[in-house]
Amino acid sequence: MSDSAAQLEVAAVVVAAGKGLRVGGDLPKQYRRVGGRAVLTRTLAALAQSPRIARIQPVIAPDAADFFFECVADLEPAHREKLVEPVPGGATRQQSVAAGLEGLVRAGAPDLVLVHDAARPFVDEGLIARAVAAGAEHGAAVPGITVSDTIKLVEEIAPGIGRVHETPARENLRAVQTPQSFRFGPLLDAHRRAVAENRDGFTDDGALAEWAGLGVVVFEGDARNRKITQAADLIEADRAFSGQTFAD
Ligand code: CTP
Ligand code: MG
Repeated sequence: MSDSAAQLEVAAVVVAAGKGLRVGGDLPKQYRRVGGRAVLTRTLAALAQSPRIARIQPVIAPDAADFFFECVADLEPAHREKLVEPVPGGATRQQSVAAGLEGLVRAGAPDLVLVHDAARPFVDEGLIARAVAAGAEHGAAVPGITVSDTIKLVEEIAPGIGRVHETPARENLRAVQTPQSFRFGPLLDAHRRAVAENRDGFTDDGALAEWAGLGVVVFEGDARNRKITQAADLIEADRAFSGQTFAD
């Protein structure tokens, strides 16, 4: 980490206000247990253990406060202390991130913010350190991994059928993850501008930052840092974390 990165105050926004429709089940995926602990508890603990992260702003669905505080109760006290009051999320991920950033304005704006999906409990210190360093140096930085599949750009012409427009060179493609790292002021301004101009539906902050004209870089992500998206991902995460508990 460069000296400048070491001096920056870093906060994280954890977006946990989704419904987890693709995983299914009664309880949204971030509150389901993997290896005996809720996904969200693991994600919060993974961020809170980092000496680089001073504060964490959780964003939750207004009707999930009970589940959220169960997760909080399961954290070590030192980790719990880094949490600020949760704020209610919105109907889209973008709206939830914006709510989290506004929450951080009220709690005291940091220099740098890491925006992270609650559904990515595998985030670790190495990835956090790379995110902080890249965000400090470049202002807007997202973790990406090379892709092993060939990716087609298509236009859907019938249900399940896409007309191929283009096959981008695979070596130029990256699959993007979180934590995404930004200078706080510029990201906040970009989100506020998107609200003012009625632009919603950016699926990540990297895309919103690009739209706002911020130069965005991709740094090295981590193939293990998968997002729990489908039911099978939850089963796999349960296995991975159970194995870890056993080995401990
Ligand atoms: N998220 C959020 N607010 C929303 C939508 C999503 O805070 N309105 C969060 C989710 O809780 C998750 C992250 O954004 O941690 C990534 O979204 P995704 O994986 O799509 O989760 P869900 O939207 O909950 O799942 P699905 O799309 O299957 O319903
Ligand atoms: Mg979603």
